[in-house]
Amino acid sequence: MLARRLGATRLSSLPKKTTAGLPRAILTRNASSSSSSAFESFLNSRLTLVSVSLFTAGTVGWYTHLYGSLPFIPQVHASLDSDEGLHPPAYPWSHKGIFDTFDHASIRRGYQVYREVCAACHSLDRIAWRNLVGVSHTVDEVKAMAEEVEYQDGPNDEGEMFMRPGKLADYMPPPYPNEAAARAGNAGALPPDLSLIVKARHGGADYIFALLTGYVDAPAGVEVREGMNYNPFFPGGAIGMARVLFDGLVEYEDGTPPTTSQLAKDVVTFLNWAAEPEHDERKKNGIKAVILFSVLTLVSLYVKRFKWTPIKNRKLIYDPPADKKH
Ligand code: HEC
Repeated sequence: MLARRLGATRLSSLPKKTTAGLPRAILTRNASSSSSSAFESFLNSRLTLVSVSLFTAGTVGWYTHLYGSLPFIPQVHASLDSDEGLHPPAYPWSHKGIFDTFDHASIRRGYQVYREVCAACHSLDRIAWRNLVGVSHTVDEVKAMAEEVEYQDGPNDEGEMFMRPGKLADYMPPPYPNEAAARAGNAGALPPDLSLIVKARHGGADYIFALLTGYVDAPAGVEVREGMNYNPFFPGGAIGMARVLFDGLVEYEDGTPPTTSQLAKDVVTFLNWAAEPEHDERKKNGIKAVILFSVLTLVSLYVKRFKWTPIKNRKLIYDPPADKKH
């Protein structure tokens, strides 16, 4: 039945005279060779050409609609390259590799830098005290730190709001009550919330590190407005935040020398953790998934070959009925 449907039908439908003299080998055909002509005609068809062209044009159109320009094609800018900011170097973060987790001692030091330096201006809205437990501090340490901060709670039975010491469930206290106060305290510039800053900036951790350590004097010819500071990594070059990290600014409890770059590295590691608290778990689960799925892939490849072997190796032979007339 199968032999009749594949290829062989064509031979048998020819007038008997044409096939009679042919050797058996020519009348024999492998089932797997019959699909190639269909594929070739698909490749050569005009419909394919038109639809592939339309698809390509559509993809390019949609990409430019979304992102404004095509990658790898230089554009004509009306602006200077410095408006984009200097590209940060790629730093060898200890959590960079696919098998690497965060350096938790560094997260702990980084929290100290955030608390003692950055928290004066920057909020960290999405991190609660409890998030630090087991990551950088013990429960008792975090409880003690939270209790040092007063939170408003209430209303109580008399309908009054009251202040109480912080607990594990409270979120990090913001330095300013609202945006207007934050701008007023920083000459009009708004210090952004740092919870997701590592994810929110092009260049991520590399950019924040480069920014914190990249303050230099403005080059000749560049004027920086009063109250602004020159930093080549900040798009535009003039940033509202002054240099905040200096050698020896913080005293680490583990004796790490508090150089400017060490402080920056630690606080960026801390901010990276704040933006991706699931990072360590994610990589661990990723490795488990890769191992499991590779094994499953190998097993399924083996089973596929096992099941298909008789079909792939079958040879279909058409044996024409003997011509009774001769
Ligand atoms: C004296 C207040 C102050 C302190 C302290 C401070 N910042 Fe800022 N920061 C600002 C202000 C203001 C801006 C907004 C600058 C602008 O938009 O021009 C800012 C912006 C930033 C930005 C965003 C830059 C961008 O690309 O938009 C980052 C990241 C940042 N600060 C990190 C830090 C870190 C980390 C610390 C602690 C080591 C810190 N800041 C300490 C005031 C401060």
